[in-house]
Amino acid sequence: MNSRYPFPAVPDGWFSVAASDDVSIGQVATLHYLDRALVAFRGEDGGARVFDAHCPHLGAHLGHGGKVCGDGIACPFHGWRFDGTGRLVAVPLLDGLPPRVSARAWPVQEQNGRIFVWHHAGAAAPSYEIPTYRDDGQGWTPWRVDTYRVRIGLQDLTENIIDRSHFYTVHDMVPPSDGRFEVAFDGPTMIVDQSIKVTAVAESGFEVLTRTTVSGPGIVAVEVREGPLDMLTYITQTPVDEEMTEITIHFSMKALDDERATASVAELNAQITNQQFRQDVPIWEHKIYRSRPPLTKMDGPIAQYRRWFRQFYSQWQPSDSPAPHAPGGPG
Ligand code: FES
Ligand SMILES: [Fe+2]
Repeated sequence: MNSRYPFPAVPDGWFSVAASDDVSIGQVATLHYLDRALVAFRGEDGGARVFDAHCPHLGAHLGHGGKVCGDGIACPFHGWRFDGTGRLVAVPLLDGLPPRVSARAWPVQEQNGRIFVWHHAGAAAPSYEIPTYRDDGQGWTPWRVDTYRVRIGLQDLTENIIDRSHFYTVHDMVPPSDGRFEVAFDGPTMIVDQSIKVTAVAESGFEVLTRTTVSGPGIVAVEVREGPLDMLTYITQTPVDEEMTEITIHFSMKALDDERATASVAELNAQITNQQFRQDVPIWEHKIYRSRPPLTKMDGPIAQYRRWFRQFYSQWQPSDSPAPHAPGGPG
């Protein structure tokens, strides 16, 4: 539990820990996410695996000299070998195996060019699927990827999507002529349909209808379909530790007939997205969390959003005592 938020820094859900391309067969990558040391490797069978970094024997770090062996990994210290599920399968020079020893293997799924791990505070099995995107066989442009590390918790980060009133103060936006703003909560999913009007491109503003799909606490997809344009901003967000979140913004669009037009639309979109993101950062990094904020009708469904997000804290109970940073008063 950190001091900034009254809830855990690592909610339950699927979290991206690496790009698929960054972990090739036989390679072992050292990672730090979900407030712990991890390794990712790709077995000789082509499957990606994510294990706790430290060997259950005498604690060597598998990312520093560990070798991929079949679908699993061998520890660099005494050579104990684990299969792809983390089961101990061989101890050099020993007949038989010590009982009840295994490496911790995290549930892994590869989707949309990323490697995801499933985290659940109560060790329950995955309870939702990672939606697939760009799988319609059409000519999507390669991902353009920008990665940030920001001092913000996940729940606060995604609250930004429905926090409508900050669009006009923090971002270069004006109220759209189409006042549509629909928020639907469905199991682990939140879908937001809204028009936004951006003035960063032209002073008169450029209005588009967007659909934002939040899939658990770690995945956000923003889709824009406007005339011939079909654009996808795919965002993965993963807690690094109790302070920091890593956010990776991927952009891809269906290629237009004209290659140069495709490139300039992609470039413009990347500029706007990254600019808007950077505009939020100073607010995010220095704000505190108000548990009982005085909301108005300008604020969007923040209270419903927070109730929806509770499902990702399976092992946490809100305490009646005020959070350390919010003594008395609203908050
Ligand atoms: S510490 Fe890994 S085999 Fe001994
Ligand atoms: Fe924002």
